[in-house]
Amino acid sequence: MNSQSELIAEDIHAYLKEQEEKSLLRFITCGSVDDGKSTLIGRLLWDSKLIFEDQLAALQADSRRIGTQGDDIDYALLLDGLQAEREQGITIDVAYRFFSTDRRKFIVADTPGHEQYTRNMVTGASTAQVAVILVDARKGVLTQTRRHSYLVSLVGIRHVVLAVNKMDLVDYRQERFEQIRRDYELFAGNLGFDEIVAIPISALKGDNVLKARGNTEWYDGPSLMNYLETVQVEDETRKKPFRFAVQWVNRPNLDFRGFSGTVASGQIAVGDEVVVAASGQTSRVSRIVTMDGDLEQARAGQAVTLCLADEIDISRGDVLSRPDERPAFADQFEAHLVWLHEDAMLPGRTYLLKAGCKTVPVQIGQLKYRVDVNSMEHLPARSLQLNEIGVANLATGQPIAFDPYRENRATGSFILIDRLTNATVGAGMIDFPLRRATNIHWQSVDIDKMARAVIKGQKPCVLWFTGLSGAGKSTLANLVEKKLHSLGYHTYLLDGDNVRHGLNRDLGFTDADRVENIRRVAEAAKLFVDAGLIVLTAFISPFRSERKMARDLLEEGEFIEIYVSTPLEVCERRDPKGLYRKARAGELPNFTGIDSEYEPPEDPEIVVDGSHDNPEELAELIVEKVLGKKTDDFRDGTLWQEGL
Ligand code: ADX
Repeated sequence: MNSQSELIAEDIHAYLKEQEEKSLLRFITCGSVDDGKSTLIGRLLWDSKLIFEDQLAALQADSRRIGTQGDDIDYALLLDGLQAEREQGITIDVAYRFFSTDRRKFIVADTPGHEQYTRNMVTGASTAQVAVILVDARKGVLTQTRRHSYLVSLVGIRHVVLAVNKMDLVDYRQERFEQIRRDYELFAGNLGFDEIVAIPISALKGDNVLKARGNTEWYDGPSLMNYLETVQVEDETRKKPFRFAVQWVNRPNLDFRGFSGTVASGQIAVGDEVVVAASGQTSRVSRIVTMDGDLEQARAGQAVTLCLADEIDISRGDVLSRPDERPAFADQFEAHLVWLHEDAMLPGRTYLLKAGCKTVPVQIGQLKYRVDVNSMEHLPARSLQLNEIGVANLATGQPIAFDPYRENRATGSFILIDRLTNATVGAGMIDFPLRRATNIHWQSVDIDKMARAVIKGQKPCVLWFTGLSGAGKSTLANLVEKKLHSLGYHTYLLDGDNVRHGLNRDLGFTDADRVENIRRVAEAAKLFVDAGLIVLTAFISPFRSERKMARDLLEEGEFIEIYVSTPLEVCERRDPKGLYRKARAGELPNFTGIDSEYEPPEDPEIVVDGSHDNPEELAELIVEKVLGKKTDDFRDGTLWQEGL
């Protein structure tokens, strides 16, 4: 604004102070180019566009360091709320614009409105407090208006502006505006918004954008800018229960121990009692330390270091609350998931879940349903593709502290990360904890793995054969088992085709089914290892992620990955079951190596060349590597001492 430019020139300190004290509103605009979205944003920015110079400098430095836009400024970095995604290097394209007026600062997220940009919209809306939903006065409420509204409600925005644009093209007729408003309110009634404010505008001519203008004499509400400048949103997170996720334990010397982080919601004062969600231990806040000295109180949004009166056990990721307003603490919950990645979600696969400052392994259970974002219908689904939204139960490796998302956006959301590529693949909003699971405890038994192994005189382990169909896995596993058996070892062979006749007979060959196939096999193998056996598994097991999952289920040294490396041409020439021929003829979809991927192991314990024409020799080689001896070196009766 002009007055601001003058103030900058005359008294930079007064200007900066004024800026500092202004509140910040984050909002999102939803609509498509046809609705006049660009024109509207252009007009909003026209008079008020002003990015602070110092912020710009910081942004430039940040962009170069962690940005995704090369040398250009990465405006996505303006949104500090997306810290987690920033560190994760998420590359979802959302344009954030920063501007300010005399009364308020604004960050507007501008995302394309088409269905294939659902993930962009969800990302952009995830930290917004207000949504401006644009409709064309000539067209009224459309399918895309419903989609935008559903997504906005899904991410927890409670203040909605229905901006009925292009009023100039319907002669500023009040009946048309009222009809659209009624249509919209009828549909949006059950989306849980606190407030829907309908404003008749013309982005092109300027009516009711910055100032209320003469062409809609019948309208006596605020202009869009007026509403954005005055809508009350600040108090919302402050009034929620106190939540503080410990980002790091600050212990510079023996005299000081503080817990640093940002107050996610609510407020806290010196003397207040707090409890650690994980341990239930309580203490009182003795100091609230900041860079600019101690505070008596801290509230949502402030980064502080809390010192406690007692020495209690707290580490990174722990969540502090008041004892009478605790978050849920569970390892199973239902959540809405938005899939953000080109690689589809695979139920059963282990991902990483990052919530606040805590990262834990997580498995997504079977989807309850997928939501058609246009009709909000619930559809059956087994997996989620890019941009799709669904509901599932999730199970984390250890309990986490959280609130249902509708109660607290700050502590009810999470992102999902692929364990191998480290890419952010999904975002989630927790619906509620599942109490059921908390009633199941691990039952300790007296006879353990060690006891069972000792009586068999062997060290239990898994010999995990992986490779293409026809590579020779089953043949080799069978020969190796025969050799071990003849030496007196106690073994068990789990073979792909056989297991698929029983335990896994409900599974096919889609990616999701293969993930589940291997998950069950890995769990079964773990049980057999616990029984003290040497387990051999012969499965294609095409994905690195599931082989790693199987490895992680076992103890160090128990998982021996054997890559039966046979070129596809050789497997195809062998074609022992005629399946390659069928696959080439298009009669067998999702066939590994043809139209379904095989990810070779990167660092297997043993590799054998499966095109070798004497499997006996290969089996002998494997036994030798596993036992550290040749078969001939063993004499009956001495075996129990040799172990593995
Ligand atoms: S895995 O990919 O889930 O590990 P698994 O080892 O259990 O596969 O089963 C592979 C066997 O199933 C193959 O050896 C082959 O006999 C048979 N099969 C049938 N259809 C397919 C297919 N589409 N892709 C691969 N193998 C198939």
